[in-house]
Amino acid sequence: MLCLGIESSCDETGLALVLDGKLIAEKLASQVDVHAVFGGVVPEIASREHLRVLPVLFRELLKEQNLTVDDIDVVSVARGPGLQGCLLMGISFAKGLVLSSRAKLIGVNHLWAHLTAAGLEQELQFPSLGLLVSGGHTHIYLIESPTKFNLLGRTLDDAAGEAFDKTAKSLNLPYPGGKLVDDLGRQGVVDKKLFPVPYVNNDNLDFSFSGLKTAVATYVNNHSGLRLEAMGVPEDGEEDSGLAAERKNMLASFNYTVGRTLEVKVKRALERNRGVKSLIVAGGVAANSVVRSVMSDVAAGFSIPLVLPSMHLCTDNGAMIAYAGYLMAEAGCRHDLDLEAIARGRVVPSDWICEG
Ligand code: KG4
Ligand code: ZN
Repeated sequence: MLCLGIESSCDETGLALVLDGKLIAEKLASQVDVHAVFGGVVPEIASREHLRVLPVLFRELLKEQNLTVDDIDVVSVARGPGLQGCLLMGISFAKGLVLSSRAKLIGVNHLWAHLTAAGLEQELQFPSLGLLVSGGHTHIYLIESPTKFNLLGRTLDDAAGEAFDKTAKSLNLPYPGGKLVDDLGRQGVVDKKLFPVPYVNNDNLDFSFSGLKTAVATYVNNHSGLRLEAMGVPEDGEEDSGLAAERKNMLASFNYTVGRTLEVKVKRALERNRGVKSLIVAGGVAANSVVRSVMSDVAAGFSIPLVLPSMHLCTDNGAMIAYAGYLMAEAGCRHDLDLEAIARGRVVPSDWICEG
């Protein structure tokens, strides 16, 4: 079964081909540079970029593989949650392809696709506990099968990735700053008491990162030398080394605090779901070195494997959408041409048609 995946939910245009569950080719066009000057994604510009880039990548992908549209069995597209206009670009492109070929249409949940992406590299086991940490979401799921995800906990306000990006912004580091916060923090010394670990003194599996965001902003306001005068990446030796060290220490403490929050809630979820066979951690923030090391200790503590997609599969890409579509097609699922885009904040319905 040849499955084409289309990702256009935010600022990456991704296309990929998965043949019988194995990735054979992929294309990714990042718009990061286009949006960096605005300090965040501008939805209107993002949609236009997807519209411009999708047909180009599609043509290149097929040409390089010596394939035609008639070789495609399944067109799998991210149908949400995401930026409505961006999703519509991918979905319209997918519907056009389905109308002009024999392929089936499958709309996949972008969040589920992040969590099953590691299946391209290793066999997934069910049930598993899934932690999704991305720019827009922080969710804990009990994953019973590729088509059955039970949401156990979620952020009540900001996502973990947003806390990373806002922390970077407060220091005048370029968007998206998560990776820089990780890299600089790795060179600093952790002060475990610098920031309060947010929203852990309760009995639930939800998250809240807005208090941490405010704590960071207040700290930077009170230590204004930490904020770079011009937006950019500080070079070693370029500025007062005391200030550079203080900034790295602050970021090390911030990384620690986020890691600790995630650790408390994931441990709690595992205690309440003893039968799970693995811990899957995915999404852009799963690329964070502290998150990876904390989750590896948590999984070891419960004697289950930690499943982490490799770095290039953590951030948005077409391969994870193609693979999620493959899993759904294997389960006998498909959508009709009335497939809708689901904007951020709305729950993605399980409205597929099952033929299995
Ligand atoms: O999953 P993703 O690519 O896009 C969404 O669906 O949101 O996640 C993007 C998020 C951004 O907030 C980015 O700053 C963050 O992932 N990120 C990181 C790292 N790499 C990417 N955050 C912390 N540490 C990293 N190494
Ligand atoms: Zn994503």
